[in-house]
Amino acid sequence: MPVTLVVGGQWGDEGKAKIIDYLARDSDYVVRYAGGANAGHTVVVDGARFAFHLVPSGILYPHATCVLGGGMVIDPIALANEIDGVKKKGIDVDGRIFVSDQAHVVFPYHIEMDAGTETRLGSSSIGTTRRGIAPAYVDKVGRKGVRMGDLLRPRAEVEQLFSKKFREKNKELKSLGLETLPVQESVERLLRARKKIQPLITDTRVILWSALEQKRKILCEGAQGTLLDVDHGTYPYVTSSSSSAGGAVAGAGLPPSSLERVIGIFKAYCTRVGNGPFPTEDKRRMGDKLRELGGEYGTTTGRPRRCGWFDAVAARTVVKLNGITEVAITKLDVLDSFDEIKICTSYRCGRRRLDYFPTNVRSLERCKPEYEVVKGWKKKTNSGGKPRLPRKAAAYVRYLEKLMGCRVHLVSLGPDRKAMVKLS
Ligand code: IMP
Repeated sequence: MPVTLVVGGQWGDEGKAKIIDYLARDSDYVVRYAGGANAGHTVVVDGARFAFHLVPSGILYPHATCVLGGGMVIDPIALANEIDGVKKKGIDVDGRIFVSDQAHVVFPYHIEMDAGTETRLGSSSIGTTRRGIAPAYVDKVGRKGVRMGDLLRPRAEVEQLFSKKFREKNKELKSLGLETLPVQESVERLLRARKKIQPLITDTRVILWSALEQKRKILCEGAQGTLLDVDHGTYPYVTSSSSSAGGAVAGAGLPPSSLERVIGIFKAYCTRVGNGPFPTEDKRRMGDKLRELGGEYGTTTGRPRRCGWFDAVAARTVVKLNGITEVAITKLDVLDSFDEIKICTSYRCGRRRLDYFPTNVRSLERCKPEYEVVKGWKKKTNSGGKPRLPRKAAAYVRYLEKLMGCRVHLVSLGPDRKAMVKLS
């Protein structure tokens, strides 16, 4: 069956959008399945930069239909603005975006709660993107959420529902010592956004099932990364959705047996935004160098990312968990000027040596990474012409492949569409 899944292999920001963009060329449908506007996907086409938060980046290909799946949480105001922004860049979106009626609505009070809670927690915060993600998922699993399908009800009913929700949530905000929101004004803003996105809301499962029957190509676009998955990540320092392969089928409404290819995206080094364990973090000069050369600042929040070395222990765990069939390595060019490159090959945990990534934060804190050091290639892998891998860079990639136990199929050497090497 023709479904390809692209899944983040680290803590998000692996450069998934670039690979999705590359694969979207040959896809009929591009589907987001989890998360919300916490994601920031950047694609550069001939020097022009496109940043996506909710809309699948496949929108850049006129033949692709984009689906926002049922596992997502969607801020209607952010979505309406993003679609307007895409249109302003001259992209025709008519009949090309569908929003699942099962996806949950992120309300302004979710954003208030997220930001307020983070501020109150201070240094023990999770370091969220403050986009209301966790509070929206809390309402979803607590069976108190509003689904995008509810926005299809008559306007007066929706207005009544929204007003009721705001009044209830204002009480909750007050009890938490947080700012309350003006009910009428907030409801009206949402109703304006609803008007724009209402025509896009439908049962997207039916669209995808019919696409499967017609053997059309479907690409599922993962957001965040496996190590941020609510079940398989470094809980509680995770996002609140299932960002790994299991979440893809549930969130898109696709049968698990439809997955044909699972492409894991790994940066040639590691980064993380927000708090939580990061065994191979380099808080010194090399970490700073990776940040500066890699432009490691959040697309959504602009926060500097924590940087460190490739963690092959985490990577091989992620390969197993997701059933990854092939790997894409991104940002290899960032390592072009390094004399030496470190790779974490195992963890020392007291007297034990671990060769898998534990999800328990306390165990992880006790783990000390053990490194192998390889010589850098000290050559430009991407100087504008046809990108190519110097011998030592190819050897680095082959070594990662061996450590991960999975074939590397693509290597990305810069933000532009053309900066990519396909390996046989
Ligand atoms: P939330 O998803 O905003 O609740 O944030 C929870 C954690 O996931 C925080 O550490 C965030 O920095 C991280 N996170 C969420 N989305 C992304 C992403 O797209 N890239 C990288 N980190 C993310």
